[in-house]
Amino acid sequence: MEINDKSRVTHYLANENRYKTMTYNRSGKSGVLLPAISIGLWHNFGFIDAIQNGRDILRTAFDLGITHFDLANNYGPPYGSAEENFGTILKTDFKSYRDELFIATKAGYDMWPGPYGNLGSRKYLIASLDQSLKRMGLDYVDIFYHHRPDPDTPLEETMGALTDIVRQGKALYVGISNYNPEDTEKAAKILKHSNTPFILHQARYSMFDRWIENGLLDTLENNGVGCIAFSPLAQGMLTDKYLNGIPEGSRAAKNLTYLDKETVADNIEKIQKLNNIAQERGQKLSQMAIAWILRQPQVASVLVGASSSKQLKENVKALDNLDFSEEELQNIKTIIT
Ligand SMILES: NC(=O)c1ccc[n+]([C@@H]2O[C@H](COP(=O)([O-])OP(=O)(O)OC[C@H]3O[C@@H](n4cnc5c(N)ncnc54)[C@H](OP(=O)(O)O)[C@@H]3O)[C@@H](O)[C@H]2O)c1
Repeated sequence: MEINDKSRVTHYLANENRYKTMTYNRSGKSGVLLPAISIGLWHNFGFIDAIQNGRDILRTAFDLGITHFDLANNYGPPYGSAEENFGTILKTDFKSYRDELFIATKAGYDMWPGPYGNLGSRKYLIASLDQSLKRMGLDYVDIFYHHRPDPDTPLEETMGALTDIVRQGKALYVGISNYNPEDTEKAAKILKHSNTPFILHQARYSMFDRWIENGLLDTLENNGVGCIAFSPLAQGMLTDKYLNGIPEGSRAAKNLTYLDKETVADNIEKIQKLNNIAQERGQKLSQMAIAWILRQPQVASVLVGASSSKQLKENVKALDNLDFSEEELQNIKTIIT
Protein backbone atom coordinates (compact mmCIF):
# COMPACT_ATOMS: atom_id res chain seq x y z
CA MET A 1 0.00 0.00 0.00
CA GLU A 2 1.39 3.41 -0.96
CA ILE A 3 1.13 6.38 1.32
CA ASN A 4 1.56 9.68 -0.46
CA ASP A 5 1.50 12.24 2.29
CA LYS A 6 -0.14 12.98 5.62
CA SER A 7 -3.41 14.18 4.11
CA ARG A 8 -3.75 11.46 1.46
CA VAL A 9 -3.64 8.03 3.01
CA THR A 10 -4.46 5.09 0.81
CA HIS A 11 -7.09 2.71 2.06
CA TYR A 12 -5.78 -0.21 4.11
CA LEU A 13 -7.20 -3.68 3.79
CA ALA A 14 -5.59 -6.17 6.16
CA ASN A 15 -3.95 -9.32 4.82
CA GLU A 16 -6.63 -12.00 4.86
CA ASN A 17 -4.07 -14.65 5.84
CA ARG A 18 -2.93 -12.72 8.92
CA TYR A 19 -3.99 -15.34 11.45
CA LYS A 20 -2.47 -18.31 9.62
CA THR A 21 1.18 -18.04 10.65
CA MET A 22 1.33 -16.17 13.98
CA THR A 23 1.42 -18.20 17.21
CA TYR A 24 -0.89 -17.06 20.01
CA ASN A 25 -0.09 -17.77 23.66
CA ARG A 26 -2.37 -17.59 26.66
CA SER A 27 -1.51 -14.86 29.12
CA GLY A 28 -1.21 -16.65 32.46
CA LYS A 29 -4.49 -18.29 33.37
CA SER A 30 -6.61 -15.62 31.68
CA GLY A 31 -8.81 -15.89 28.63
CA VAL A 32 -6.52 -13.60 26.66
CA LEU A 33 -4.38 -14.92 23.82
CA LEU A 34 -1.46 -12.71 22.80
CA PRO A 35 0.65 -12.94 19.67
CA ALA A 36 4.05 -14.47 20.46
CA ILE A 37 5.50 -11.21 19.15
CA SER A 38 3.93 -7.82 19.93
CA ILE A 39 4.89 -4.34 18.78
CA GLY A 40 5.81 -1.43 21.06
CA LEU A 41 5.51 2.27 20.21
CA TRP A 42 8.08 3.67 22.66
CA HIS A 43 10.34 4.92 19.85
CA ASN A 44 9.63 5.79 16.20
CA PHE A 45 6.03 6.99 16.71
CA GLY A 46 6.47 10.47 18.19
CA PHE A 47 5.98 13.83 16.52
CA ILE A 48 9.74 13.80 15.78
CA ASP A 49 9.22 10.71 13.59
CA ALA A 50 7.60 10.29 10.18
CA ILE A 51 4.03 9.14 10.71
CA GLN A 52 4.13 7.30 7.34
CA ASN A 53 6.84 5.03 8.67
CA GLY A 54 4.85 4.38 11.85
CA ARG A 55 1.78 3.57 9.78
CA ASP A 56 3.80 1.19 7.63
CA ILE A 57 5.14 -0.61 10.72
CA LEU A 58 1.66 -1.02 12.22
CA ARG A 59 0.15 -2.23 8.93
CA THR A 60 2.98 -4.74 8.57
CA ALA A 61 2.48 -5.84 12.17
CA PHE A 62 -1.23 -6.47 11.77
CA ASP A 63 -0.71 -8.19 8.41
CA LEU A 64 1.65 -10.58 10.21
CA GLY A 65 -0.94 -11.39 12.87
CA ILE A 66 0.41 -9.02 15.53
CA THR A 67 -2.74 -7.99 17.33
CA HIS A 68 -1.12 -6.38 20.37
CA PHE A 69 0.07 -2.76 20.23
CA ASP A 70 1.80 -1.38 23.33
CA LEU A 71 1.78 2.32 24.27
CA ALA A 72 2.27 4.54 27.31
CA ASN A 73 1.27 8.08 28.19
CA ASN A 74 4.83 9.39 27.86
CA TYR A 75 5.89 7.71 24.59
CA GLY A 76 7.04 10.14 21.93
CA PRO A 77 8.84 12.50 22.13
CA PRO A 78 7.19 14.76 23.05
CA TYR A 79 5.19 12.97 25.73
CA GLY A 80 1.77 11.91 24.51
CA SER A 81 2.66 12.17 20.82
CA ALA A 82 2.93 8.41 20.20
CA GLU A 83 -0.63 8.03 21.49
CA GLU A 84 -1.77 10.94 19.35
CA ASN A 85 -0.13 9.57 16.20
CA PHE A 86 -1.46 6.13 17.02
CA GLY A 87 -4.95 7.65 17.33
CA THR A 88 -4.57 9.13 13.86
CA ILE A 89 -3.44 5.82 12.35
CA LEU A 90 -6.17 3.95 14.23
CA LYS A 91 -8.78 6.21 12.70
CA THR A 92 -7.49 5.98 9.13
CA ASP A 93 -6.43 2.33 9.07
CA PHE A 94 -7.69 0.22 11.94
CA LYS A 95 -11.14 1.57 12.81
CA SER A 96 -12.94 -1.46 11.45
CA TYR A 97 -10.43 -3.79 13.13
CA ARG A 98 -10.78 -2.40 16.68
CA ASP A 99 -12.16 -5.66 18.07
CA GLU A 100 -9.23 -7.59 16.57
CA LEU A 101 -6.73 -5.44 18.48
CA PHE A 102 -5.42 -5.63 22.02
CA ILE A 103 -4.26 -2.11 22.88
CA ALA A 104 -2.22 -1.23 25.95
CA THR A 105 -1.30 2.00 27.66
CA LYS A 106 0.36 2.84 30.94
CA ALA A 107 1.05 5.55 33.50
CA GLY A 108 3.72 5.72 36.15
CA TYR A 109 6.55 7.90 34.86
CA ASP A 110 6.84 11.66 34.67
CA MET A 111 4.05 13.02 32.46
CA TRP A 112 2.99 16.54 33.46
CA PRO A 113 4.34 19.09 35.96
CA GLY A 114 3.39 19.24 39.61
CA PRO A 115 2.64 16.59 42.20
CA TYR A 116 -0.15 14.81 40.28
CA GLY A 117 1.63 13.94 37.02
CA ASN A 118 3.92 11.10 38.09
CA LEU A 119 4.25 7.85 40.10
CA GLY A 120 1.27 5.92 41.50
CA SER A 121 -1.49 7.98 43.07
CA ARG A 122 -5.14 7.40 42.22
CA LYS A 123 -5.28 11.05 41.17
CA TYR A 124 -2.52 10.56 38.57
CA LEU A 125 -3.57 7.18 37.16
CA ILE A 126 -7.21 8.05 36.57
CA ALA A 127 -6.46 11.46 35.04
CA SER A 128 -3.68 10.01 32.88
CA LEU A 129 -5.84 7.25 31.42
CA ASP A 130 -8.58 9.79 30.61
CA GLN A 131 -5.98 11.83 28.71
CA SER A 132 -4.62 8.74 26.91
CA LEU A 133 -8.10 7.70 25.76
CA LYS A 134 -8.69 11.18 24.34
CA ARG A 135 -5.34 11.20 22.50
CA MET A 136 -6.01 7.79 20.96
CA GLY A 137 -9.70 8.44 20.29
CA LEU A 138 -10.70 5.30 22.20
CA ASP A 139 -13.51 4.56 24.64
CA TYR A 140 -11.40 1.97 26.43
CA VAL A 141 -8.02 0.24 26.30
CA ASP A 142 -7.67 -3.50 26.50
CA ILE A 143 -5.07 -3.31 29.23
CA PHE A 144 -3.91 -0.49 31.47
CA TYR A 145 -0.65 -0.83 33.39
CA HIS A 146 0.91 0.83 36.35
CA HIS A 147 4.25 1.51 34.65
CA ARG A 148 6.60 1.30 37.64
CA PRO A 149 6.38 0.80 41.39
CA ASP A 150 5.91 3.86 43.59
CA PRO A 151 7.45 3.22 47.02
CA ASP A 152 5.65 6.19 48.60
CA THR A 153 2.06 5.47 47.61
CA PRO A 154 0.26 2.63 49.41
CA LEU A 155 -0.09 -0.31 47.04
CA GLU A 156 -3.76 -0.49 48.05
CA GLU A 157 -4.32 2.98 46.57
CA THR A 158 -2.56 2.21 43.26
CA MET A 159 -4.26 -1.16 42.86
CA GLY A 160 -7.58 0.36 43.94
CA ALA A 161 -7.26 2.86 41.09
CA LEU A 162 -6.66 -0.01 38.63
CA THR A 163 -9.74 -1.79 39.95
CA ASP A 164 -11.92 1.30 39.58
CA ILE A 165 -10.60 1.91 36.05
CA VAL A 166 -11.86 -1.56 35.10
CA ARG A 167 -15.20 -0.95 36.85
CA GLN A 168 -15.58 2.32 34.97
CA GLY A 169 -15.14 0.39 31.70
CA LYS A 170 -12.00 2.31 30.73
CA ALA A 171 -9.82 -0.83 30.64
CA LEU A 172 -10.76 -4.47 30.26
CA TYR A 173 -7.69 -5.85 32.06
CA VAL A 174 -4.87 -4.47 34.20
CA GLY A 175 -1.17 -5.07 34.49
CA ILE A 176 1.93 -3.88 36.29
CA SER A 177 5.41 -3.23 34.99
CA ASN A 178 8.88 -3.24 36.53
CA TYR A 179 7.61 -4.51 39.91
CA ASN A 180 9.91 -6.85 41.86
CA PRO A 181 8.64 -10.32 42.89
CA GLU A 182 7.64 -9.25 46.43
CA ASP A 183 5.55 -6.27 45.31
CA THR A 184 4.11 -8.33 42.46
CA GLU A 185 2.93 -10.91 44.99
CA LYS A 186 1.33 -8.18 47.13
CA ALA A 187 -0.30 -6.53 44.12
CA ALA A 188 -1.68 -9.88 42.94
CA LYS A 189 -3.21 -10.49 46.37
CA ILE A 190 -4.93 -7.10 46.46
CA LEU A 191 -6.23 -7.42 42.91
CA LYS A 192 -7.47 -10.96 43.51
CA HIS A 193 -9.41 -9.76 46.55
CA SER A 194 -11.25 -7.21 44.39
CA ASN A 195 -11.71 -9.67 41.48
CA THR A 196 -9.75 -7.37 39.17
CA PRO A 197 -8.48 -9.11 36.03
CA PHE A 198 -4.71 -8.82 36.52
CA ILE A 199 -3.26 -10.69 33.55
CA LEU A 200 0.18 -9.33 32.66
CA HIS A 201 3.47 -8.20 34.09
CA GLN A 202 5.61 -6.22 31.63
CA ALA A 203 9.27 -6.76 32.41
CA ARG A 204 12.63 -6.12 30.77
CA TYR A 205 14.12 -9.42 29.64
CA SER A 206 16.83 -10.33 27.17
CA MET A 207 20.06 -12.30 26.97
CA PHE A 208 21.69 -9.18 28.41
CA ASP A 209 19.24 -8.68 31.29
CA ARG A 210 18.02 -11.79 33.06
CA TRP A 211 16.72 -10.36 36.34
CA ILE A 212 13.26 -11.90 35.94
CA GLU A 213 14.73 -15.40 36.17
CA ASN A 214 15.49 -14.61 39.78
CA GLY A 215 12.02 -15.13 41.29
CA LEU A 216 9.66 -13.04 39.16
CA LEU A 217 8.78 -15.78 36.66
CA ASP A 218 7.91 -18.16 39.52
CA THR A 219 5.78 -15.50 41.23
CA LEU A 220 3.88 -14.90 38.01
CA GLU A 221 3.31 -18.59 37.43
CA ASN A 222 2.04 -19.08 41.00
CA ASN A 223 -0.43 -16.24 40.53
CA GLY A 224 -1.61 -17.23 37.04
CA VAL A 225 -0.26 -14.00 35.56
CA GLY A 226 1.51 -13.86 32.19
CA CYS A 227 4.76 -12.12 31.35
CA ILE A 228 5.38 -9.84 28.38
CA ALA A 229 9.10 -9.23 27.83
CA PHE A 230 10.24 -5.77 26.72
CA SER A 231 13.54 -4.65 25.14
CA PRO A 232 14.17 -8.25 24.00
CA LEU A 233 16.89 -7.09 21.61
CA ALA A 234 18.57 -4.94 24.27
CA GLN A 235 17.45 -1.95 22.20
CA GLY A 236 19.12 -3.27 19.05
CA MET A 237 22.37 -4.66 20.49
CA LEU A 238 21.10 -8.23 20.03
CA THR A 239 20.89 -7.85 16.26
CA ASP A 240 23.55 -7.69 13.59
CA LYS A 241 23.30 -3.90 13.29
CA TYR A 242 26.31 -3.02 15.49
CA LEU A 243 28.67 -5.75 14.27
CA ASN A 244 30.59 -3.32 12.10
CA GLY A 245 30.31 -0.11 14.09
CA ILE A 246 27.51 2.32 14.96
CA PRO A 247 25.31 3.03 11.93
CA GLU A 248 23.99 6.55 11.44
CA GLY A 249 20.41 6.94 12.62
CA SER A 250 20.60 3.90 14.91
CA ARG A 251 19.47 4.14 18.51
CA ALA A 252 23.03 4.11 19.83
CA ALA A 253 23.92 6.98 17.48
CA LYS A 254 21.10 9.16 18.85
CA ASN A 255 21.28 10.96 22.16
CA LEU A 256 17.62 10.39 22.93
CA THR A 257 17.77 6.93 24.33
CA TYR A 258 19.04 4.69 27.03
CA LEU A 259 21.49 3.02 24.66
CA ASP A 260 24.87 4.66 24.11
CA LYS A 261 27.97 3.88 22.09
CA GLU A 262 29.95 2.89 25.17
CA THR A 263 27.41 0.20 26.10
CA VAL A 264 27.62 -1.20 22.59
CA ALA A 265 31.44 -1.20 22.77
CA ASP A 266 31.34 -2.97 26.16
CA ASN A 267 29.18 -5.75 24.72
CA ILE A 268 30.52 -6.14 21.20
CA GLU A 269 32.57 -9.25 21.92
CA LYS A 270 29.54 -11.04 23.32
CA ILE A 271 27.41 -9.84 20.41
CA GLN A 272 29.89 -11.31 17.92
CA LYS A 273 29.98 -14.67 19.71
CA LEU A 274 26.19 -14.83 19.93
CA ASN A 275 25.95 -13.91 16.27
CA ASN A 276 28.13 -16.94 15.43
CA ILE A 277 25.74 -19.26 17.27
CA ALA A 278 22.77 -17.68 15.51
CA GLN A 279 24.45 -18.23 12.14
CA GLU A 280 25.08 -21.89 12.97
CA ARG A 281 21.36 -22.18 13.73
CA GLY A 282 20.59 -20.61 10.35
CA GLN A 283 19.03 -17.60 12.10
CA LYS A 284 19.68 -13.89 12.46
CA LEU A 285 20.88 -12.84 15.92
CA SER A 286 17.64 -10.87 16.44
CA GLN A 287 15.63 -14.03 15.72
CA MET A 288 17.69 -16.13 18.10
CA ALA A 289 17.36 -13.48 20.82
CA ILE A 290 13.56 -13.58 20.51
CA ALA A 291 13.39 -17.38 20.35
CA TRP A 292 15.58 -17.60 23.47
CA ILE A 293 13.02 -15.54 25.41
CA LEU A 294 10.05 -17.54 24.16
CA ARG A 295 11.57 -20.72 25.64
CA GLN A 296 10.24 -19.52 29.03
CA PRO A 297 6.72 -20.90 29.39
CA GLN A 298 5.56 -17.92 31.47
CA VAL A 299 6.36 -15.50 28.64
CA ALA A 300 3.19 -15.03 26.62
CA SER A 301 4.67 -12.46 24.27
CA VAL A 302 7.92 -10.77 23.30
CA LEU A 303 7.43 -7.02 22.91
CA VAL A 304 9.74 -5.74 20.20
CA GLY A 305 10.42 -2.27 18.89
CA ALA A 306 11.21 -1.57 15.24
CA SER A 307 12.29 1.47 13.25
CA SER A 308 11.17 -0.10 9.96
CA SER A 309 8.73 -2.71 8.74
CA LYS A 310 11.73 -4.62 7.35
CA GLN A 311 13.08 -5.10 10.89
CA LEU A 312 9.70 -6.28 12.10
CA LYS A 313 9.37 -8.82 9.30
CA GLU A 314 12.84 -10.14 10.13
CA ASN A 315 11.97 -10.41 13.83
CA VAL A 316 8.73 -12.30 13.25
CA LYS A 317 10.70 -14.97 11.37
CA ALA A 318 12.09 -15.94 14.78
CA LEU A 319 8.99 -18.13 15.04
CA ASP A 320 10.39 -20.40 12.29
CA ASN A 321 12.93 -21.86 14.72
CA LEU A 322 12.13 -21.77 18.43
CA ASP A 323 13.94 -24.95 19.45
CA PHE A 324 17.33 -24.99 21.14
CA SER A 325 19.61 -27.94 21.82
CA GLU A 326 21.04 -28.28 25.33
CA GLU A 327 24.46 -27.56 23.83
CA GLU A 328 23.28 -24.31 22.23
CA LEU A 329 21.68 -23.16 25.47
CA GLN A 330 24.85 -23.97 27.38
CA ASN A 331 27.02 -22.12 24.86
CA ILE A 332 24.76 -19.06 25.04
CA LYS A 333 24.83 -19.18 28.84
CA THR A 334 28.62 -19.26 28.86
CA ILE A 335 28.73 -16.12 26.70
CA ILE A 336 26.15 -14.09 28.61
CA THR A 337 27.06 -15.07 32.16
N1 LIG B 1 7.39 -1.14 30.63
C1 LIG B 1 8.48 -0.48 30.44
O1 LIG B 1 9.06 0.14 31.37
C2 LIG B 1 9.10 -0.46 29.07
C3 LIG B 1 10.41 0.02 28.88
C4 LIG B 1 10.94 -0.03 27.58
C5 LIG B 1 10.19 -0.55 26.54
N2 LIG B 1 8.92 -0.97 26.76
C6 LIG B 1 8.08 -1.47 25.64
O2 LIG B 1 8.80 -2.45 24.91
C7 LIG B 1 8.86 -2.07 23.53
C8 LIG B 1 10.13 -2.58 22.94
O3 LIG B 1 11.25 -2.02 23.61
P1 LIG B 1 12.55 -1.66 22.81
O4 LIG B 1 12.18 -0.75 21.68
O5 LIG B 1 13.60 -1.25 23.76
O6 LIG B 1 12.87 -3.14 22.18
P2 LIG B 1 13.99 -3.83 21.38
O7 LIG B 1 13.25 -4.74 20.48
O8 LIG B 1 15.00 -4.39 22.31
O9 LIG B 1 14.72 -2.69 20.52
C9 LIG B 1 14.12 -2.15 19.38
C10 LIG B 1 15.17 -1.47 18.50
O10 LIG B 1 16.13 -2.42 18.07
C11 LIG B 1 16.45 -2.19 16.71
N3 LIG B 1 16.00 -3.36 15.93
C12 LIG B 1 14.84 -4.06 16.06
N4 LIG B 1 14.79 -5.08 15.20
C13 LIG B 1 15.95 -5.03 14.49
C14 LIG B 1 16.48 -5.83 13.46
N5 LIG B 1 15.84 -6.88 12.98
N6 LIG B 1 17.70 -5.50 12.95
C15 LIG B 1 18.39 -4.45 13.43
N7 LIG B 1 17.93 -3.64 14.43
C16 LIG B 1 16.72 -3.94 14.94
C17 LIG B 1 15.74 -0.90 16.29
O11 LIG B 1 16.59 0.18 16.63
P3 LIG B 1 17.08 1.29 15.59
O12 LIG B 1 16.27 2.48 15.88
O13 LIG B 1 18.54 1.47 15.97
O14 LIG B 1 16.89 0.75 14.20
C18 LIG B 1 14.56 -0.91 17.23
O15 LIG B 1 13.97 0.35 17.41
C19 LIG B 1 8.73 -0.55 23.57
O16 LIG B 1 8.30 -0.01 22.33
C20 LIG B 1 7.69 -0.38 24.64
O17 LIG B 1 6.40 -0.65 24.13
C21 LIG B 1 8.38 -0.96 27.99
